[in-house]
Amino acid sequence: MSIATYAPQRLDSSASIHPETLGKAPAHGRLKGRRILVVGGGQRKVIDENPPIGNGRAISLLFAREGAAIACLDAVKEAAEDTCAQIKAEGGTAFPDVADVADAYAIGPALERCAKQLGGLDGLVLNAGISRAFLLENQTPELWDEVFAVNVRSHMLFAQKALNILAAGSAIILMSSLASQRAGGRNPAYESSKAAQLALGRAIARAGEPKGIRCNVIAPGFIDTPMGRDASRKRADRALTVPFGRQGTGWEVAYAALYLMSNESSYVNAQTLFLDGGHLAGVQRDA
Ligand SMILES: NC(=O)c1ccc[n+]([C@@H]2O[C@H](COP(=O)([O-])OP(=O)(O)OC[C@H]3O[C@@H](n4cnc5c(N)ncnc54)[C@H](O)[C@@H]3O)[C@@H](O)[C@H]2O)c1
Repeated sequence: MSIATYAPQRLDSSASIHPETLGKAPAHGRLKGRRILVVGGGQRKVIDENPPIGNGRAISLLFAREGAAIACLDAVKEAAEDTCAQIKAEGGTAFPDVADVADAYAIGPALERCAKQLGGLDGLVLNAGISRAFLLENQTPELWDEVFAVNVRSHMLFAQKALNILAAGSAIILMSSLASQRAGGRNPAYESSKAAQLALGRAIARAGEPKGIRCNVIAPGFIDTPMGRDASRKRADRALTVPFGRQGTGWEVAYAALYLMSNESSYVNAQTLFLDGGHLAGVQRDA
């Protein structure tokens, strides 16, 4: 008698790649007429000849293709302007705005400027995030506070002020990370700040409920964005076991955001969506 064994065939990664994965699918007007602010809508420069698209830029472009007018806010003027230029080149509507969200007092005025440019506001994506990658033993109060000011405090302040400006029935999205659940990166300030976003997202949803404003959190796993590529450069073994044998794309993050921003998710609230190919649940490639 022989015991049957299951020997999985190692498929090519391309089996998991679709037009949506690469930002090449047709649009369907899913955000027609919406006015949306994307905070961190630019992307950092990387040394690659052919850099991947970042989460904030992919979200801005996809939302614009789906019919939304976009205010693209970033600390880096050129990054915000590049995103807007790409949207306009595709026939969309976009306005750049520049603010450093680490400055608590820059947030209210920036939000008001963007809402004015758009003629109102019915969507907010809080995507700006930084990682300083210091081990626990090397942390200082200043380094810790720097990460929290951008990754947590700015999100809280944006949401607090936006709840007064956003139209009833709007949606808010926070960009957390799989790092909120794992110490794998040995990056405690980043991991802790991303975990704090999960509670903050629930608190925002609670505060937004009287106006029918929903708030959800996306927690991406290993994504091949400029930030992801910089991290992989520092730690080559960072993403060896990712499901499907490849990292996610900024477009895949953007499609999740599209669903959570659109009215298709009108009863989805205070949730965290782990966008990791199932990595957290134990799905992985054997290295
Ligand atoms: N790439 C990944 O693997 C990954 C995984 C999980 C979560 N994320 C999250 O996705 C988000 C976007 O990351 P990305 O990978 O596209 O990286 P990115 O660095 O290319 O994009 C981040 C953008 O935020 C802007 N930004 C940073 N600090 C800012 C500040 N103080 N004020 C205003 N703008 C500021 C940057 O200028 C940049 O344009 C981040 O919140 C990140 O933590 C990324």
